[in-house]
Amino acid sequence: MPEQRLLVVEDDADQRRLVASILRAEGWTVAEAGSVGEALDELARSPVDLVLTDWKLPGRDGLELLAEVRARGTETAFVMMTAYGTIAHAVAAVRAGADDYLVKPFERQALLLAVERTLRQRRLADENRRLAEEVADRDRLVDLVGSAPSMQQLFRRVEKLAGTDATVLLAGESGTGKELAARALHALSRRSGGPFVAVNAAAVPESLLEAEFFGAERGSYTGADRTRKGRFEAAHGGTLFLDEVGELPLPLQPKLLRALQEGAVTRIGATQEIPVDVRIVAATNRDLAAEAAAGRFRQDLYYRLDVVTVVLPPLRERREDVPLLVRHFVGRAERRHGVRVAPFPPPLLRRLVEYAWPGNVRELANVVERLVLLSEGGEVSPDDLPDSLAARPAGDGGFRLPPGGLSWETHERECLRQALDLAGGNRARAARLLDLPYKAFLYRLEKHGLATPGE
Ligand SMILES: Nc1ncnc2c1ncn2[C@@H]1O[C@H](COP(=O)(O)OP(=O)(O)OP(=O)(O)O)[C@@H](O)[C@H]1O
Ligand SMILES: [Mg+2]
Repeated sequence: MPEQRLLVVEDDADQRRLVASILRAEGWTVAEAGSVGEALDELARSPVDLVLTDWKLPGRDGLELLAEVRARGTETAFVMMTAYGTIAHAVAAVRAGADDYLVKPFERQALLLAVERTLRQRRLADENRRLAEEVADRDRLVDLVGSAPSMQQLFRRVEKLAGTDATVLLAGESGTGKELAARALHALSRRSGGPFVAVNAAAVPESLLEAEFFGAERGSYTGADRTRKGRFEAAHGGTLFLDEVGELPLPLQPKLLRALQEGAVTRIGATQEIPVDVRIVAATNRDLAAEAAAGRFRQDLYYRLDVVTVVLPPLRERREDVPLLVRHFVGRAERRHGVRVAPFPPPLLRRLVEYAWPGNVRELANVVERLVLLSEGGEVSPDDLPDSLAARPAGDGGFRLPPGGLSWETHERECLRQALDLAGGNRARAARLLDLPYKAFLYRLEKHGLATPGE
């Protein structure tokens, strides 16, 4: 155990020396102070594990010392000594954050007991806080939150890749956290002191994209009234995030490829190349391999970007993360809007877990913020869920038998097929969509020869 340093604050020098010598005899390092001012000097000199102070001191009293100590954090244990008959002082001290009190006069044994117990409690509190922080750390990578195995694996991958300059392609549906992953790659890299520059190929008009990427000399095109740097140059020394790279128009793709290969850019209207040192992270919610195969994306650029692909899993494939993310977004909405809400009721949470989340984490974040904003008396209500998530309409769901009738067998088969589709092949969920017990659902799948799709 590391050496523990105690501070005894008492204006009566004889009493102070006596107490200090008892504590020293037990092996502690003990500093002494005769006033609040001297005590603060000692605290400034080096950290103290425990302060044992008299209430009554010349000038400022022990309670004021307590306030000073607590203002510096919660790590220091604090024991107040009060005179016999002033139990109110002891109570006030504990209320103000003291760990314990000793009523004078006290026996040596009582002193040692109070000090040992208080130090032990502090150690436990520190340990608990450390463990709580560790749990939170494990489920978080910079701003990405997730405890599902697929996310944990992703975190380890991102950490590893952050130590390299390799080009990374982030793939995944909309709202799965591609941009957060790109920022994490930057934040954990040796480039974190440099810029993180994002350029979104879908958000800039095609005619301006080249200037946006590579810059333009003054007068090089109509409206270029001054020389401007491109995003590549702006990202020098840092990370360039090519967002929605699948949307990049074909004519611009060879120029991007060239910049990536050469590590240099040429501004529009310039002849000289400018070397740039950037780490490239690209993102797409399209299947770039398929786009390349179909001729909508250049093969050579695809291979250049696809050095390492990291896939962000959709939320419906890691439902176990929903409660964790809900807590995360509730905290964020509470801070943002200055409100507090009670934990979500289990049936509501269950509905959030079971929903298919086509918009992934972004959609969940919006739904949670809405519930928090519309909460009343600190309670969120399922009535405030958006329609897409609200309870399924009771009854026939608007279905009308066509006037000419229908073939029951075909209709049933079609219902099963569409439910499977909607549920992404997950049978349990498909059964829920049709409000059928799982066994009854399987029986009907068998009947229609749908039981082993594509196996
Ligand atoms: N794992 C996560 N933990 C915490 N917040 C997340 C996570 N994933 C996404 N978010 C939040 O969801 C929103 C969307 O994330 P982000 O912009 O990174 O998604 P994206 O994959 O880039 O989406 P798009 O393809 O639509 O651009 C952001 O508000 C982000 O804070
Ligand atoms: Mg994005």
